[in-house]
Amino acid sequence: MIDNKKVLFSGMQATGNLTLGNYLGALKNWVTLSDEYECFYSVVDMHSITIRQDPAALRRRARSLLILYIAAGLDPEKNCIYYQSHVSGHAELAWILNCFTYMGELNRMTQFKDKAAKHADNINAGLFTYPVLMAADILLYQADVVPVGIDQMQHLELTRDIAQRFNGIYGDVFTIPEAYIGKVGAKIMSLQDPAKKMSKSDENPNGSIYLMDDADTIRRKCKRAVTDSLGEFRYSDEQPGLHNLIDIYCACTGLTPDAVVKEFSGSGYGQFKEAVGEAVVSVLDPLQKRVAELEKDKAYIDRVIKSNAEKATYYSQKTLRKVQKKVGFPSFS
Ligand code: TYM
Repeated sequence: MIDNKKVLFSGMQATGNLTLGNYLGALKNWVTLSDEYECFYSVVDMHSITIRQDPAALRRRARSLLILYIAAGLDPEKNCIYYQSHVSGHAELAWILNCFTYMGELNRMTQFKDKAAKHADNINAGLFTYPVLMAADILLYQADVVPVGIDQMQHLELTRDIAQRFNGIYGDVFTIPEAYIGKVGAKIMSLQDPAKKMSKSDENPNGSIYLMDDADTIRRKCKRAVTDSLGEFRYSDEQPGLHNLIDIYCACTGLTPDAVVKEFSGSGYGQFKEAVGEAVVSVLDPLQKRVAELEKDKAYIDRVIKSNAEKATYYSQKTLRKVQKKVGFPSFS
């Protein structure tokens, strides 16, 4: 608790082009929850280097991501928006937690297996222990709630296991965090292959809508989205392409799947795809304009970066000192 408010932590990687999945599955919910909680939103640049990065591009993307958080509606006066690499406590706590995490647990992580297969020439130890750094991110702020998409659930379960294990040995040190999964949009799938999640690293650019895609590109990608040959307008797992488009439409408009099925039953898929394209444009267009405006205000962004890194450092140190004492590190005095 901070000032009688529960704590929320979440983060995103500044790797690749962010997709509509990142926005609908995570960022959009962050904005909805931001009044209720004391929030920490990190640009997790330390996670990004588990895969080889061009340094200049990483710096540029990390800054764009931080700006995107603000553009999406997170007020940096109220929410702590900062770079993970500016707060050394993340790495320090991660080391300690590494000593409370088993190889077998990390071996089971599906994202590690996926990424190791994709980057077979660079299966580094950081990639393997990535979930421990993620646990440190969350536990460092004693977070009660962590809004994420479904793909991060396994990492969150591991975080809870590590925290419970540590508390079991040393007493109540960590708050046990809960995941927050949005009702719609928690798993947006590829427009070209609805069996795969929409991903920044998809080789087929038509499968993903990128947050910075222009309106015509968005409309074209929606129009080309894979559906089926049944020709029936239903919200069913047997029609995964249409199911995904309905999810996207609902997440963008706030309508329920039932309402959408009612509205479009009898219309062709083509007409619905056009409506989906327009709904996505109406969400992303204002976001892109706000990003462009904020990018011009360098002094303001720099101020936000500095003051929020100080705030995050302050709260992170409270937990870190407690943990260091518990495991037996000597204090300065
Ligand atoms: P990342 O950067 O891959 O994704 C950021 C957020 O976007 C969600 N997401 C999706 N949601 C719905 N549909 C999709 N297709 C989709 N693709 C991505 C993710 O679930 C995530 O919430 N390890 C994390 C970053 C991280 C983190 C943390 C998150 C590091 N430390 C602590 C929460 C708390 C990651 O790589 O997310």
